[in-house]
Amino acid sequence: MSFTSMADSTRISSLQWRILPQIFALLVIFPIVSGSFFEPFNVSYDHRALIVAGKRRMFVSAGIHYPRATPEMWPDLITKSKDGGADVIQTYVFWNGHEPVKGQYNFEGRYDLVKFVKLVGSSGLYLHLRIGPYVCAEWNFGGFPVWLRDVPGIEFRTDNEPFKKEMQKFVTKIVDLMREAKLFCWQGGPIIMLQIENEYGDVEKSYGQKGKDYVKWAASMALGLGAGVPWVMCKQTDAPENIIDACNGYYCDGFKPNSKTKPVLWTEDWDGWYTKWGGSLPHRPAEDLAFAVARFYQRGGSFQNYYMYFGGTNFGRTSGGPFYITSYDYDAPLDEYGLRSEPKWGHLKDLHAAIKLCETALVAADAPQYRKLGSNQEAHIYRGNGETGGKLCAAFLANIDEHKSAYVKFNGQSYTLPPWSVSILPDCRHVAFNTAKVGAQTSVKTVDSARSPLGSFSILHNDVRKDNVSYISKSWMALKEPIGIWGENNFTFQGLLEHLNVTKDQSDYLWHRTRISVSEDDISFWKTNGANPTVSIDSMRDVLRVFVNKQLSGSIVGHWVKAEQPVRFVQGNNDLLLLTQTVGLQNYGAFLEKDGAGFRGKAKLTGFKNGDVDLSKSSWTYQVGLKGEAEKIYTVEHNEKAEWSTLETESSPSIFMWYKTYFDTPGGTDPVVLDLESMGKGQAWVNGHHIGRYWNIISQKDGCDRTCDYRGAYNSDKCTTNCGKPTQTRYHVPRSWLKPSSNLLVLFEETGGNPFKISVKTVTAAILCGQVSESHYPPLRKWSTPDFKNGTMSINSVAPEVHLRCEEGHVISSIEFASYGTPRGSCEKFSTGKCHASKSLSIVSEACQGRNSCFIEVSNTAFRSDPCSGTLKTLAVMARCSPSQDTRHLGFKTA
Ligand code: GAL
Repeated sequence: MSFTSMADSTRISSLQWRILPQIFALLVIFPIVSGSFFEPFNVSYDHRALIVAGKRRMFVSAGIHYPRATPEMWPDLITKSKDGGADVIQTYVFWNGHEPVKGQYNFEGRYDLVKFVKLVGSSGLYLHLRIGPYVCAEWNFGGFPVWLRDVPGIEFRTDNEPFKKEMQKFVTKIVDLMREAKLFCWQGGPIIMLQIENEYGDVEKSYGQKGKDYVKWAASMALGLGAGVPWVMCKQTDAPENIIDACNGYYCDGFKPNSKTKPVLWTEDWDGWYTKWGGSLPHRPAEDLAFAVARFYQRGGSFQNYYMYFGGTNFGRTSGGPFYITSYDYDAPLDEYGLRSEPKWGHLKDLHAAIKLCETALVAADAPQYRKLGSNQEAHIYRGNGETGGKLCAAFLANIDEHKSAYVKFNGQSYTLPPWSVSILPDCRHVAFNTAKVGAQTSVKTVDSARSPLGSFSILHNDVRKDNVSYISKSWMALKEPIGIWGENNFTFQGLLEHLNVTKDQSDYLWHRTRISVSEDDISFWKTNGANPTVSIDSMRDVLRVFVNKQLSGSIVGHWVKAEQPVRFVQGNNDLLLLTQTVGLQNYGAFLEKDGAGFRGKAKLTGFKNGDVDLSKSSWTYQVGLKGEAEKIYTVEHNEKAEWSTLETESSPSIFMWYKTYFDTPGGTDPVVLDLESMGKGQAWVNGHHIGRYWNIISQKDGCDRTCDYRGAYNSDKCTTNCGKPTQTRYHVPRSWLKPSSNLLVLFEETGGNPFKISVKTVTAAILCGQVSESHYPPLRKWSTPDFKNGTMSINSVAPEVHLRCEEGHVISSIEFASYGTPRGSCEKFSTGKCHASKSLSIVSEACQGRNSCFIEVSNTAFRSDPCSGTLKTLAVMARCSPSQDTRHLGFKTA
């Protein structure tokens, strides 16, 4: 450790001075990024729960996949998970990220697994490491490296020696890496649990006896590694005795593991869903999610993981398929950028606090007592003795009726249960939380045109925003990508080759060229018949573009669909070019190694006078990828070597173009996105970082219900939005990939777009709303106050509160609405009702303005009068968040 000398410290710039407090805060939160984080402890389990350091525990876990964020984002994501009530972070391990080339490992940058695990440990959270190494996860090829297909004799995920050898090698590598870094709990590290395989039960039947043998082998191989913590297999009803089989799904409250000795674990609670290009955006209501979680703990569950707590972004070409989009937002409690999605995040935080209040009772009981309260209502009661001998009791009251509220009696008290809800009673008497009553704030995110970079800061108000879209650049350079074979590293082969066998997934693109000679007879035959010859391929995926003599005849998009593309030839020799493209490799299902890409079945040219031409027998010249890709013209290092020319503003969109420009980073700390709605389909890089595939494909027109009812079982079609609009227009550019000015943006555009209309924007939670009535339950933190614990305060006498909290680095700049009384409407549309406390606005402003967070009691006392006695009153507030003085000039997060 060395200290900065005085001479050095005088060189600290004013910018650095301003960020020093933040650096200091980080050092306090994450004191140690190496060494041990906990007193070493062991983890085991019984039928009721995981047993951590000798104690049963109830765990809430937050799913975060490290490569779907940057290392600079990790601390904030982990802090927000902890703040939201998580005890555990869960992640998969991404084999194809770690071993991109057989035997060559990568544990750097977004793949710095050790760093990620250490950050989890230093925040005081535990880690569930799901090694797989098959992970599914909407990740390219389900996490398998594409070279794995080339191992002779290999069959994935079955009793196959070559596969087992590679799988064992990788799993061993990861376990050893964790052990060497002392990251297992018995070494003082955060890892309390592992996973081998992933949902193998879904495909096991396809493999017959070999599948069953594989499960046994995988289990004993994993256990044989001596990792010293429990292993999980999810969706694996035949998991061997010493492996815990866990549940995945939208609901897991009926789940029973395959042995009485195992606890009930929920490895994937799908709190939203993923999206395909051309699909609408799924949303899972917070009330239903909270209901599912509460029901799980109510009925004996002990570990629940949100899949995802933070979904993030499929940077580069990591998204799986078929056709998964670049965003992996997942409608998770933390959005794609790491901002809280409210009310989901806050409602779950309250739920977790309520569950925590029950933890001692939940673990003290071996099983709940059951009481039927009505036809669709039931109670589960957990009783036991506390460590100091006191009597513990916690109860969950559920109303599973999808339509009606229920009025039930429990232990002599009356309770009202909204439809499809659970009330949690940490003392078997008072309601701490009800899953259908949301007291948490709602936030409205806005996407602003870039503020001026460093220094000159201005807020763009709604009204100006429309006229003031600032496009990223007025000057663009362009470069045409050659159509067809472009370089020497091509080869010729008699017959059609399978796409992945050729590309090895080094690129999405594979060119095939053959020569078609056309006679005068053919031409006149087509003229007389009024018909065109057609390229006909039995089956193809994901995109096929057909060119004749370098002119695009047409494109076909689909997943193993028949392709029929009419073409026009000239007399004599014609170049027939087929470009096959992948948009994310298959990540789910049996026999992934056989799935491949490109073409399957017969390929012919039909409509010739002398019969069909069998294209699978033709001589084809192949070239992998694009010239621009090979020359790495998207990198800071190499882009200038290419022969770019200035793009004229009036030039019309053209296919197969590279574009580049430079742009400045918007000031502040808000997440940065590129709006690529003006473009067609392609890929984009910022300062050489591949930000992902983009595609301006429109979502299906139908299926987005106008209202979303939380009641009743959720499925991914239930509460979708964005129908009829492009599936994704904004692409995340992590701030750590940006410098203050002159950032290089390079795009490869396949179908034609207008780069002049690309803009850089920032995303911010600009509007917060809170709406809580007098009858809402008291703040959960009050349950832990000494007054309540020692009985001097009755929880009934505690007033509910409205809590507002801007994102870090932001403060409440104005209260735009406040009414204590009978306000009407919902967020952004509030209006005062008949009853309104006249001081509402000034009281709320006084409490909140200028602060990052605030709370206001919902009571006559707080509003210094009763505006309408005898009437149930509500406090509704709408606030605006703006960057605080300290951060608005900063271009960068300081982590
Ligand atoms: C599960 C799988 C996850 C993910 C999820 C859907 O079946 O285990 O990896 O793919 O579905 O998001």
